Amino acid sequence: MIVLYNCLAEKNCTKGLNEMPSQLRIYVPPHPLIKHWLGIARDKNTPSTLFKTAMVELGRWLTYEAIREWLPTIDVDIETPLTDSVATFIDPNTTIATIPILRAGLTLWEGCQTLLPLATTYHLGLVRNEETLEASCYLNKLPIKFKDDTRILILDPMLATGGSIMFAMNEIVKKGGNPDFIRIISVVAAPPALQKLSAHYPSLNIYTAMIDEQVNDSGYIVPGLGDAGDRSFGTN
Ligand code: PRP
Ligand code: URA
Repeated sequence: MIVLYNCLAEKNCTKGLNEMPSQLRIYVPPHPLIKHWLGIARDKNTPSTLFKTAMVELGRWLTYEAIREWLPTIDVDIETPLTDSVATFIDPNTTIATIPILRAGLTLWEGCQTLLPLATTYHLGLVRNEETLEASCYLNKLPIKFKDDTRILILDPMLATGGSIMFAMNEIVKKGGNPDFIRIISVVAAPPALQKLSAHYPSLNIYTAMIDEQVNDSGYIVPGLGDAGDRSFGTN
């Protein structure tokens, strides 16, 4: 399923129609494995070890969907044991960066890197203040400057109030990341985060297992899956 999210729906968006470059694209792949692992992750009775497995698998399958028709390929003449042929390979000149948002994004990254083992990984550690829900950064391993055509995958399972993903996007763009070349992989996305992304980065593509309806007063997505970091690492 593809949902097009229009920035005009966002109250604070002051841009006129002519200036609207594009709409945020949110892909919710209708894949049975993605549905299955989301169900495991949502269930409050799932133990931490299995929860982590679910996040790793979601990272793998959502990455599989996100890189479809995104990674450039080249055709190369080869010889099979029987004859000459032409084979298609991922262009080795493509620069791919993966950015897990710590802590919970590390579990998605684990699945992602099984498909993209040669991608460079830049860690970004963010944590929300439990009262103000504001995100702050405790680790920033982003490069000084991304190459212009770097394809960037951001891995953050929960897009809730949007504070964390907006912080991450702003930092990445400051370092030369091009929103047209950025894809976000999340497990559950909620309207406040999608509205902020749509208003500020409308050319983004998001791959998520589900869009949930709301964020409660404590900043948790409902129905959601609880605290993704704590459940991934058994710290609750
Ligand atoms: C969680 C989650 C996101 C963030 C989303 O991180 O992994 O990064 O909350 O919430 P937001 O959209 O309201 O900013 P958390 O701060 O709980 O840190 P953790 O991953 O270390 O548990
Ligand atoms: N962070 C989480 O881990 N869960 C939520 O529901 C929202 C933010």
